Amino acid sequence: MTDETRTAAGSPSRREFLYAAGAAAAAAALPARAAAEPARRTRYAIVGTGHRGSGMWGAEALKRHGDTLDLVALCDVNPQRAEAANALMGTKAPVYPDLDRMLDAVKVDRIAVCTVDSTHSAVIARALDRGVDVVTEKPMVTGLSQCRAILDAERTNRRKVAMAFNYRYSPKLEKIWSLLRTSGLGKVTSIDFSWYLDVFHGADYFRRWHRLKAQGGSLWLHKASHHFDLVNWWLGADPVEVSAVSSLRRYGKAGAVRHTHCRTCPHKASCEFFFDMTATPRLMALYAGPAGADGYLRDGCVFREDCDTWDTMSAVISYSNGTTMTYSLNAFMPFEGFRVAFNCEKGRIEVRDYERQPWEVPYETEILVARNFAKDVERITLQKLPGGHSGGDPRLLDAVFGSAPVPEHLRVPDSRAGAMSCLTGIAARTSSETGKSVKVADLSPLAGL
Ligand SMILES: NC(=O)c1ccc[n+]([C@@H]2O[C@H](COP(=O)([O-])OP(=O)(O)OC[C@H]3O[C@@H](n4cnc5c(N)ncnc54)[C@H](O)[C@@H]3O)[C@@H](O)[C@H]2O)c1
Repeated sequence: MTDETRTAAGSPSRREFLYAAGAAAAAAALPARAAAEPARRTRYAIVGTGHRGSGMWGAEALKRHGDTLDLVALCDVNPQRAEAANALMGTKAPVYPDLDRMLDAVKVDRIAVCTVDSTHSAVIARALDRGVDVVTEKPMVTGLSQCRAILDAERTNRRKVAMAFNYRYSPKLEKIWSLLRTSGLGKVTSIDFSWYLDVFHGADYFRRWHRLKAQGGSLWLHKASHHFDLVNWWLGADPVEVSAVSSLRRYGKAGAVRHTHCRTCPHKASCEFFFDMTATPRLMALYAGPAGADGYLRDGCVFREDCDTWDTMSAVISYSNGTTMTYSLNAFMPFEGFRVAFNCEKGRIEVRDYERQPWEVPYETEILVARNFAKDVERITLQKLPGGHSGGDPRLLDAVFGSAPVPEHLRVPDSRAGAMSCLTGIAARTSSETGKSVKVADLSPLAGL
């Protein structure tokens, strides 16, 4: 490792390296708990019991950490969905339609917040006011006043929110963190980062509430905040200024024909985006039955005219350490994955990643470490790992709920990280709407962050 790299990105400890080296093998294994250590039990509740709440924060969390977690309650504005979640998880937790009623009835130590994005802030701030610890799904917020409310509630109640940035815990994305600190390529001068959502996963955002800025904050928040957090973490830097352009090219009004949802659609035979949710019993249980109570269409038409978010987004972002990034997010691609390249003083790290594609690839991720003037290149290939989000979900659960120590760089991120990733997204959304470049400091009533 060169001195320049240390200055640019900090130096990892030996323990961090050992952890990183063992990460791939450990990704799917159950966590080791020190034999002598008594297990402290947590009275745990899930707020928002849809796909993520009942899956990763429900069944998966209980499978991995059932020795310390007691699921004491479920909360969802649609109690029918919470009952469906109970059935899917094999639990019998009491169900409540709002947070206060739940906390009035049951003693809870900690909640996982898995509600619609725009509601995170109110749930988090109220839970902190009531003395309950919070781990929240991303994005932490979809707007500035929501961000302020959480930071104020943390200060007033002297409590800290834990941010569930599972991407940091994916071994392939952690590998990039390590390479930036060990490859000896000097400072990162610029980044080229493109994320591709395919015609299945990308389309899924346009079937549901994510298509509305009022609920998902736009994909600048809902999706790109993951990537903005990764960049902040990879670089150890904060965003400074964002200039962005966004458009809706394939979904919403861009479609030629439309209906309410796929199951009853007269165009189902000809529509490329037809989605047969009846083929997935889990989706039918969580959404079809409970839709009677809230009208939630899990197979909503991707061409509905009320869609006001974008599917085609580009930004130029500058960072506090002098790095600049060109970033893009496209939501109707033939494959799912990303490309990221770090242009450094002495070479380049280039990453090609395939999460899902119709053709065969011999690996999930290929990383090239290329040195200026060298005749060869270092090539690293990484295979797909078990566990949600390329092995990130189980490792995040272990960091949040486990007792085994994690290295400094994998400590569960806090509200500052949540805010910084969201501020980048809010700046990109604002820039897209105003046509002007946005300074993050001008946006934020968040002095001291
Ligand atoms: N980190 C990841 O990789 C990842 C993956 C998927 C989803 N998520 C996040 O998880 C969250 C949930 O996503 P999902 O796909 O499960 O959505 P979903 O629509 O399936 O579930 C959301 C649930 O929240 C409930 N709800 C809405 N407002 C509420 C409130 N105020 N109080 C209680 N319940 C409320 C809804 O009724 C619904 O059941 C989102 O914030 C999303 O960004 C993260």
